[in-house]
Amino acid sequence: MEKERGHFGSNFGFLMAAIGSAVGLGNLWGFPYKMGANGGFAFLIIYLALVLLCGVIIMTIEMAIGRKTGKSPVYALATFGKRWRPVGWFGVGASFIIMGFYTVICGWVLRYVVDYFMTLIGQGTITSVDGVTYFTSAFGDITLNLIYTLLAFVITCVIVMGGIQKGIEKFSKVAMPALFVMLIVVIIKGLTMEGSAEGLEFMFTFKSEDFNFFNALRTAGGQMMFSLSLGMGALITYGSYMTKDSNISKNGWIIPIADTIMALLSGLAIFPALFALDMDPSGGPGLLFMTLHNVFDSMGAVGPIFGFVFYVLTLIAALSSMISLVEVSTSHFYDYQASKGKTPSRKKITFWVCLGMFIISLPIIFDKLGESGIFSWVPIKDKDGLDFYDFIASGVLMPLGGVFLSALIGWRKGGMAYLDDEIRVHDNKFVARGFFNVVVKITPAIMIVVLFSLLLSYFGL
Ligand code: PHE
Repeated sequence: MEKERGHFGSNFGFLMAAIGSAVGLGNLWGFPYKMGANGGFAFLIIYLALVLLCGVIIMTIEMAIGRKTGKSPVYALATFGKRWRPVGWFGVGASFIIMGFYTVICGWVLRYVVDYFMTLIGQGTITSVDGVTYFTSAFGDITLNLIYTLLAFVITCVIVMGGIQKGIEKFSKVAMPALFVMLIVVIIKGLTMEGSAEGLEFMFTFKSEDFNFFNALRTAGGQMMFSLSLGMGALITYGSYMTKDSNISKNGWIIPIADTIMALLSGLAIFPALFALDMDPSGGPGLLFMTLHNVFDSMGAVGPIFGFVFYVLTLIAALSSMISLVEVSTSHFYDYQASKGKTPSRKKITFWVCLGMFIISLPIIFDKLGESGIFSWVPIKDKDGLDFYDFIASGVLMPLGGVFLSALIGWRKGGMAYLDDEIRVHDNKFVARGFFNVVVKITPAIMIVVLFSLLLSYFGL
């Protein structure tokens, strides 16, 4: 079975793929801004506490379930009894919804990469207008968005079609170190600009006037689940391709630590330069596409070089997250066909999954960030498609998945024995087992609080 489905060639390969899944747009446009806007250092402490009390726990549980069963989320959870299946279905659903908006954003990133490249060879237009004008025309151009979104799908599809070792692992092993190096280059540039200290201040000092414990808790909780790719089966899926000699519990610490470091580094790459040039901080598309564009413009001759490097690193971060999202559904339909006694074709399944996801992304493209009003009926506070998709995935499905997955081990009889059994194969050590044993019992409760408070925030409460 394992041979047919494929498996990672080494633990390093697995780690690069899992960190690749975690590090994405969430780190770049979510974390630094949310931290700056929610009390700086105080937010960081709450975020770290949640990573410790929920992130590490759920991540380890997901990997253990994946590897033990060797199956994709729906089938893996079905081994606990039929009624656990829906939790797996949430994951498959979430992968479609997240891809529905993520790929459109990746399409914009791709467009900026191409435009900066053209500028570098003297043919581009991106530096001739300001960030706001450029981006407004970019998201309003449906034809170009269709083309770039499709291109982002094609790239992801080709990598996933290559399989676990020859596609996902091969890409991640090169892409993740490259991303890290590029991030360092951009950080050095930002930190050496005059006036950059203010950016550090924005992120790291404790600002009591911006701090509200409840708001910080739910913002950090949602951010943590999304940023670590948790609660929707991505880690169950990747775990199902992990070999038995990999130490799950060590990986359960390494991935969250790496993701948090990358989130902080993203802040260092963005805010010092932004403050050095006297620009207002923001989050989301405004930050990634408008403000940063202006930042690169203000750097003078070297601007396009840093612009190009920055968007290439963003592209890598997005792609490595997208391949994990596509893999969740690809592995699901692969296992489905295998369970029906058929010989599944990974390539065909990947193609259909990507096509389905592309269709889900169409309303987002046509929505033009809320401008067209086609999402004006949504029951949440922000009446645009991107926020609505984000609400379904990171406001409902992922935290809900987190509640169930942690309860499966923490609140169910034999939960810890299940983990012990899987983690300790090959004489691997269960890192900080005593801590885990206690905390796993409170993780579901914390996740319930995060889930409900997050729901309220989408309704403006
Ligand atoms: N963790 C990714 C990010 O921060 C997003 C993601 C969510 C990827 C869920 C896979 C699964 O951008």
